[in-house]
Amino acid sequence: MNVLKRCISVFSLLSLVFLIAQCKGNQKEEKQENTIQKTDNVYINKKEYGTTSAGQKVDVYTLKNQKGMVVNILTYGGIISSLKVPNKAGVSEEVVIGFNNLEQYTKANPYFGALIGRYGNRIAKGKFILDGKEYVLATNNGKNALHGGPEGFHRRIWTAEEAKGGDIATLKLKYVSKDMEEGYPGNLTVFVTYTLNNDNSLDVLYEANTDKKTVVNLTQHSYFNLSGDFSKSILNDKITIDADNLVPVDADLIPTGKLTDVTNTPFDFRKPRIIGADIAAKDDQLIKGKGYDHCWVLNNQDKGFRFVASAYNLASGRLLEVYSDQPGIQFYSGNFLDGTLPMRNGGTYAHRTGLCLETQHYPDSPNQKDFPTTELNPGENYKTKTTFKFSVKR
Ligand code: GLA
Repeated sequence: MNVLKRCISVFSLLSLVFLIAQCKGNQKEEKQENTIQKTDNVYINKKEYGTTSAGQKVDVYTLKNQKGMVVNILTYGGIISSLKVPNKAGVSEEVVIGFNNLEQYTKANPYFGALIGRYGNRIAKGKFILDGKEYVLATNNGKNALHGGPEGFHRRIWTAEEAKGGDIATLKLKYVSKDMEEGYPGNLTVFVTYTLNNDNSLDVLYEANTDKKTVVNLTQHSYFNLSGDFSKSILNDKITIDADNLVPVDADLIPTGKLTDVTNTPFDFRKPRIIGADIAAKDDQLIKGKGYDHCWVLNNQDKGFRFVASAYNLASGRLLEVYSDQPGIQFYSGNFLDGTLPMRNGGTYAHRTGLCLETQHYPDSPNQKDFPTTELNPGENYKTKTTFKFSVKR
């Protein structure tokens, strides 16, 4: 009898242990269910990324589809810290320059992957006049203001809201830029929504509204290297830019005010052409830009959202197509990368190992009456969209 009793109690103990273990397992699964939100084909997942020296928490959101595309976005600067897409053999690899920790992003960072605002590109002498009043901006590029000033939007913490549905996952970021921040008038509420599709395209939707007349020019500053190998330069990639005209600049990269025809110049990318073909040509504009660092006047502006540019890497077969409703695009060939900034897994980013295709309005528009306006009035909704679409071409 005793033996039987003992057997029963051992059995109960074992069942209890088993039950507790099962419970724990379920909890673990539930925890994962909370963080990995599964849609039909696209996932979004949030993790803590780090803490700034001022004690602000930063998260990283991972958007992932079933076609091998994975995008990491930080709430710090809305930075795309990683973007992986397949090559022609179906192997997903990293195609954007980035660091492997928050601290590095908060130090010297030439806008790697960041959202740029309130005014992308340069404003001459950091000054402009709006309704007869002169505004003096924080300057950070010699005497000019570049990419919204020293803190811009790229060093701010954005709040994030994730959503899912069907074949898309979205991350809606929000930042409220205070009246006179970096010298710009008006409290500006900015939303940037990143959407990953299951067709390997990433949409970037920019929205903003203000309580006082201001200027706005938002863009995305990812540095692409479609080879998947950051020790390789982008010089052998082929670029297409659907633009008949260029916004030529002076020695400080400020527009001269004229627009020039690209025909028979190293700036004619209307047909796919290798970046390195003419980059070292003795061309006044290339010398001023230290390579390509210019805004092109995109064609078909009246058509709104349309194909505007592409980049193609022959070895990997990766093709990036850019679609946008913007009037201009800044093609920057990574001329200031100089081998000082660390790569993710050792080594440094060398000269021209990344290229940027920044859709935007023309530089210095607030001071150029003939350029399309960048003014935003209270009651108006700033809304613009750019899509980065990846595929392979053999
Ligand atoms: C933009 C500018 C460049 C440079 C890079 C970052 O593309 O036009 O001149 O500042 O950002 O280094």
